[in-house]
Amino acid sequence: MKHIISIDDLDLDFIDQVFALAEEYKERRQYRFWANLWNELSVRLRHRLMITDFFEPSTRTRLSFEAAMTYLGGNVIGTENAAEFSSIKKGESIADNFRVISGYCDIIVGRFLNEGDARIAADASMVPLINGGDGMGEHPTQALIDLFSIKEKFPDVKDLRVTFIGDNKHSRTVRSLARLLARFPWVSKMNFIGRPEINFTADDSDGFIHELVQISNNYNEYHPYSIGFLCEDWLNPDTIKNHTDIIYMTRSQTERYSNLTSEQVNVKGIQPSNFVLTPEIANLMPDNGLILHPLPRTTELPIEVDNNPRAYYFQQAHNGLFVRIALLETLLCRL
Ligand code: NCD
Repeated sequence: MKHIISIDDLDLDFIDQVFALAEEYKERRQYRFWANLWNELSVRLRHRLMITDFFEPSTRTRLSFEAAMTYLGGNVIGTENAAEFSSIKKGESIADNFRVISGYCDIIVGRFLNEGDARIAADASMVPLINGGDGMGEHPTQALIDLFSIKEKFPDVKDLRVTFIGDNKHSRTVRSLARLLARFPWVSKMNFIGRPEINFTADDSDGFIHELVQISNNYNEYHPYSIGFLCEDWLNPDTIKNHTDIIYMTRSQTERYSNLTSEQVNVKGIQPSNFVLTPEIANLMPDNGLILHPLPRTTELPIEVDNNPRAYYFQQAHNGLFVRIALLETLLCRL
């Protein structure tokens, strides 16, 4: 039984296996005989049941997992507002809650309010548990979707530079993707741009950059480049123009700002603002650059950027369906 709680649960063979299936399904979906694909998939997980237990709002994660399970012929039950409508509201522990529901189903997808809760739930669960996001912690399946989208656009890249812009510090998608990318010898640079209250800082007070260096060292005895890391507290045009192939935007994670100290939130109580990727800044990128965003977006990514040829975030969201079909099938049929 395999849980997917963090990036550490995804080894490279497993990722290759999932991506090969996702690629095949995406390609066949675009082909005119796509109905054959859905027919074929529709018996794979027949009589299997997935429970979605979500303690935080979600659109893409929950619905694409539920769609994936449905296309695979399985069934889905769950709650989209477990914080309000499950027995956690009555004081039940996460461990008891997941121990019980794991007796009702074959797989669980959970989204949690607090970092670490996904691991507690998995330890109590008798069936595989997928972490659909735990507080500021991790969002491993989003990182798979992000990596899948990157590899689609840059299949043979050797020297890739990724610039994370926005609320890097509180974004579990940034943490998971950066941890995943740190493993690969073809990633040569990661830049983190954001206001200092919501970004990793040059003094690495968060310790996250140190962790990335360690991941890179563990995976890359023969790394041809040593990965460079840069933390900037302004939207530096030179970084975008000369040191970026991919921009990964994130919204302000305002629901997590109760963690900020009063000095970090400015005197009038206004939240730290986020940088805006204007069409002009997007146009500084190389022509074959890529703009990703896990979505939902707010003001940081204006709709004027949607027509930019580098914008790939809606395709990225659609890739979620294929990656999650492949993931559920791999976990339940192929391991
Ligand atoms: C992200 C999340 O929940 O962390 N959304 C998603 O799953 N695609 C990003 C976010 O909420 O900002």
